[in-house]
Amino acid sequence: MAETTTDPLRAAAVLANGGLVAMPTETVYGLAADAENEGAVARVFAVKGRPTSHPLIVHLATAEQVHDGWADPFPTTAATLADTCWPGPLTMLVPAGPRVGPWVTGGRPTVGLRVPAHPLATAMLAAFGGGVAAPSANRFGRVSPTTAAHVLADLGDDVDLILDGGKCPVGVESTIVDCTVNPVQVLRPGAITPEQIAALLGQVATASGPSRAAGMLTSHYAPRCTVELFDHRGDAERRLGELRTSSREAVWFDAASDLTSAARSLYTVLRSADERHADTVVALLPPAEGLGYAIRDRLTKAAAPRP
Ligand code: TXA
Ligand code: MG
Repeated sequence: MAETTTDPLRAAAVLANGGLVAMPTETVYGLAADAENEGAVARVFAVKGRPTSHPLIVHLATAEQVHDGWADPFPTTAATLADTCWPGPLTMLVPAGPRVGPWVTGGRPTVGLRVPAHPLATAMLAAFGGGVAAPSANRFGRVSPTTAAHVLADLGDDVDLILDGGKCPVGVESTIVDCTVNPVQVLRPGAITPEQIAALLGQVATASGPSRAAGMLTSHYAPRCTVELFDHRGDAERRLGELRTSSREAVWFDAASDLTSAARSLYTVLRSADERHADTVVALLPPAEGLGYAIRDRLTKAAAPRP
């Protein structure tokens, strides 16, 4: 099994030697490698079982670093969002700078950049000094990990070191905003909401129909059990009763009452339903506003027909 540490300097040394580190962030755990090391990044794709056409996000310690060759140019809309939202759960697609290898972007001209807000990630990134490419630290198509134990269960021996930063406080992946178009467009909803972005920039577009973010498949974030979604509490409770009367193992998930705690516990609920060999998760959906938009997105993907 991979070793676990709370020492960000040790994690930075593993990255510098071309190793893979599971890093905590405020959203979910990432599977991190030196973005400029082609072999290390290739191992990330191999460990995840992810097609190399699905690009990785590059994580930086500070917003100033975008000018160190990671973005060229850094659009003014992105600079405005960075001022308020970084460090934080926001990834921006911008024109890639000269330090971004095609092994990170799958040859695209854009790169996703993010400055995460987690003290251990910040310390590791600052000590490392460069850009760190990281997807979520789960196998391709599975639920993202929000604790070090989730990473260990998913990736076990395939990662060199796990930097244990506790439970991820946000619990869903970052908001992805395409800053190469005007108005900017939200490609994946997250804790930075379209309402906040519109307030900062005056305008924002949200994706309707299939997303242009590579790898935004319809079925994603999926547990093994069935997920049933309800907009009305009465309907959800009735369904839960039906399932339990027919002695099916059903898990109840109220995602409508407290959005912050629903986002934080979402992936733990889906994982523990699988661990208990539950047949069904019965979920009560929040309205598609604020953080509710991201929670609905992930639950809809968890409920979608599997390939
Ligand atoms: O919260 C997060 O964003 C976490 C933590 C670790 O930072 N990371 C994460 O990475 O969720 P990942 O790889 O699981 O999801 C990023 C998504 C993928 O669907 C990827 O294909 C897309 O963003 N993406 C990344 N760079 C892109 C680009 N240049 N153009 C289009 N899509 C891109
Ligand atoms: Mg992912």
